[in-house]
Amino acid sequence: MYSGPFQPGDKVQLTDAKRRHFTIELTPGGQFHSHKGIVNHDDIIGADEGTVAKSTLGADFLCFRHLLVDHVLSMPRGAAVIYPKDAGQILVEGDIFMGARVLEAGAGSGALTMSLLRAVGPQGHVFSYEIRDDHLAYARDNVSDYFGGEPEWWTPKLGDFGEITTEDLGGPVDRVILDMVEPWHFIDTVKDVLIPGGVFMTYVATVPQLMNIVETIREAKCFTEPRSWETLLREWKVEGLATRPEHRMNAHTAFLVWTRRLADGVTPPRPQRRARR
Ligand SMILES: C[S@@+](CC[C@H](N)C(=O)[O-])C[C@H]1O[C@@H](n2cnc3c(N)ncnc32)[C@H](O)[C@@H]1O
Repeated sequence: MYSGPFQPGDKVQLTDAKRRHFTIELTPGGQFHSHKGIVNHDDIIGADEGTVAKSTLGADFLCFRHLLVDHVLSMPRGAAVIYPKDAGQILVEGDIFMGARVLEAGAGSGALTMSLLRAVGPQGHVFSYEIRDDHLAYARDNVSDYFGGEPEWWTPKLGDFGEITTEDLGGPVDRVILDMVEPWHFIDTVKDVLIPGGVFMTYVATVPQLMNIVETIREAKCFTEPRSWETLLREWKVEGLATRPEHRMNAHTAFLVWTRRLADGVTPPRPQRRARR
C-alpha cells in the first residue's frame, strides 16, 4: 500500500525529536525497542500516516511510510546508486513515458530500476541487465522489497549488455539508459536495439569518461549531436534572517549524456559551430 491508514506489513519510518530515522515493519503485537522506550506496533496499525506514536517512556515518534527516495537512500547496496536528483533528470529528459519499453544496464543496486518501473507502469516494460550476480541479487531484493514482489513488467537478467540482441528483448526498445564504467564499448548494441527516434542516456562520473562517450556517439554517425550536463543541487536553510544556502552540498555525482537514434541510413547533420577568429 502506498497510501491510506497503516496496515500490517507496511514499512514505517519512525522519526524522533532529533530527526533520527528508524524503519520498522508493522506486525500485530510487534514492538519497537529504543533507549527512549517501547513503541507498540498496534498503536500505529490503523492510524493515518503522519501520526505520532508515544513510547512507554513518553518519547514521540513521527510515523510515515517510506517514500521511494527514503527506500533508495536506506536500502542495502552492491554498487553505487543513481541519486534522486539524477534519476529525476533521467525520467524527464529521457522521456520515460507510461507504456515505454526501457532497457537499462547495469542494474547495480536497482535504484534507477525502481523509478523506471514506476514511470513505465504495467503497460510498459523494463529490462535490467547486470553482469555481476551479486549486484543483480541486490537489485532483485531491493525491487521486491519496494514493490512487494517483482513486478510483472520487469525482466532482470544476468548478462553482458554487449551481448544483447533485439530478439532477446522481443523487439526494439524506446529508451536505453546506461550506468556503467565504459559505456562507449556498447554503442553498437545501443544502435541495434534502440528504435529510430529512441532516446539514449548515459551516466558517467568523470571527465575522461564524458569525453570518450560523447566522441563515440559522434563517430557512430547514427545519433543526434549529444548533449551533456550535470545537475547541481544546493539545499537552503530557511530560518528568518538566517535564511541562506546550506554550507555543504554534494557538488558532483555524475554527468548525463543524451542523444536520439536517427533513422537507418541517415547521415547526421553536422553541428554548426561558430567560426573561430
Ligand atoms: C554504478 S552500478 C549501477 C547502479 C544502478 N544504476 C543503480 O541506480 O542502482 C554499475 C553496474 O554496471 C554493471 N556492469 C558493468 N558492465 C556491465 C555490462 N557490460 N553489462 C551489464 N552490467 C554491467 C556493474 O556490475 C555495476 O553493478
